[in-house]
Amino acid sequence: MGDEMDLFNLAGLVMKNAYTPYSNFKVGVAILSTTGNLYKGCNVENAAYPQGLCAESGAISAMIAGGCFKIREILIRSDAKKLIVPCGGCRQKIREFSYKETIVHLADSTGIKKTLSFEKLLPFSFDNSYLENKGKRSS
Ligand code: THU
Repeated sequence: MGDEMDLFNLAGLVMKNAYTPYSNFKVGVAILSTTGNLYKGCNVENAAYPQGLCAESGAISAMIAGGCFKIREILIRSDAKKLIVPCGGCRQKIREFSYKETIVHLADSTGIKKTLSFEKLLPFSFDNSYLENKGKRSS
């Protein structure tokens, strides 16, 4: 419960920094890694629209840069009226660093509105088990 509120508040703080002059749709993401660290990210748009980055990408990059490779919990927050759901591309990005049991929280300004396992969010997903080279890390 404490963890959830930490994630909610952290996502709210970073969401304020989202750079969204084009959509004005601000997203904040907070990650709790399996190593117990917190990471955050916000969306960063670009005048060349396709170059914009989702908040999930930023948070995942921060986690990897911090030396962690697995997500225990991820919270995605937008204060829009309609509850945020991660886009398809982000679901796949989260997949790379999640377990089926990884917990996904979806939140708005008033709190966490939905909590589900990653498997529920992206069933029947593609991962490195389909590849001959399962993806070797150099570290
Ligand atoms: N966005 C995210 O950051 N994450 C999502 O999962 C959905 C969409 C951002 C991208 C863009 O800056 C804005 O929300 C509107 O699409």
